[in-house]
Amino acid sequence: MTYTTSWRSPSNIALIKYWGKHSLQLPRNPSVSFTLSVCHTTMTLSVTPNADQPGVQVKYDGQPKPSFEPKINTFLSMMKDRFLWLADAAIEIDSHNSFPHGAGIASSASAMSALALCLMDVNDQVTANIADHDELWWQNISEIARIGSGSACRSVFPVISIWGETPVAKESNDLFAIPWEHQLAPVFKDYCDAILIVSSEEKAVSSSAGHKLMDTLPYAETRYREAFQNIESLCKSLQVENELGQFISIVESEALQLHALMMSGKDPYILMEPGTLSIIKEVWRFRKASGIPVCFTLDAGPNVHLLYPSTYAAPILDWINNNLSPYCAEGRYILDRVGSGPEKII
Ligand code: PMV
Repeated sequence: MTYTTSWRSPSNIALIKYWGKHSLQLPRNPSVSFTLSVCHTTMTLSVTPNADQPGVQVKYDGQPKPSFEPKINTFLSMMKDRFLWLADAAIEIDSHNSFPHGAGIASSASAMSALALCLMDVNDQVTANIADHDELWWQNISEIARIGSGSACRSVFPVISIWGETPVAKESNDLFAIPWEHQLAPVFKDYCDAILIVSSEEKAVSSSAGHKLMDTLPYAETRYREAFQNIESLCKSLQVENELGQFISIVESEALQLHALMMSGKDPYILMEPGTLSIIKEVWRFRKASGIPVCFTLDAGPNVHLLYPSTYAAPILDWINNNLSPYCAEGRYILDRVGSGPEKII
């Protein structure tokens, strides 16, 4: 008997950054992110338990991708206690990213959350569980996704999620993310994120290496304290409709702090490119001149995420085309926005 499922799961962009971890992918500080919509992974998982030839086959866009297999194998072996049927199963995974391969956009959040969803879904089929997908089901998925890739645990919920214990959200904890949409002021529920592709090259330093660097950094404790304070202040601004000043200031400071941390170790590195800095300066110039409340954030890479209320979509698009696309690799950008979370395809 072969069980098959297919899920689409989005990427996310952190406003308060998770940077520094311990134990099994537990965060040193709480983080909060917008769940995106356009950038997502679609994954199909086929599982034949008790197979004659157990093993894992990973495909990307229908083509075998053996280079993905070691990471997936490590992750699946950590799942064997949870899903006993994994032990002797023949497993086939086929995934597709909506964003162009090599666009420099991290795919681990969307891919690992999609895999967590597929695993839980197959588990329901194998165990003939027909119960509704309740809060606990989603918590389990978020926890499984976290073990695959920390930030993936936040992709599981619509609009906005918090991961890591913080007094701003009663249910928050380090094991899984929680949805936070119900607290959000309307302006943020369809917030836009234009992702400017400054470079489409593979990251020179993995985020695992970046997290590790935090263990050796003299500023680490100060950074964690700052993140705890920032999430409290940011979550207050996220509940207010027409007060974007504090939101902008914290989001930009978090992005620059993330990169400053990378630059301040004994083995420092720089993931920004000259175009990244040019865009940041252009954002500051444009915001001052136009009064439009657009701000930037950065992932662990050179690409710039422009965050703005949807009412400003038209002038922002003109500005991107006229002033910012020259800094983008082949003029590329992706117009994304806050989205409604994962979706089952079949
Ligand atoms: O999930 P990881 O281990 O790839 O770490 C992601 C870290 C950042 O993207 C830089 C920040 C975040 O909170 O998403």
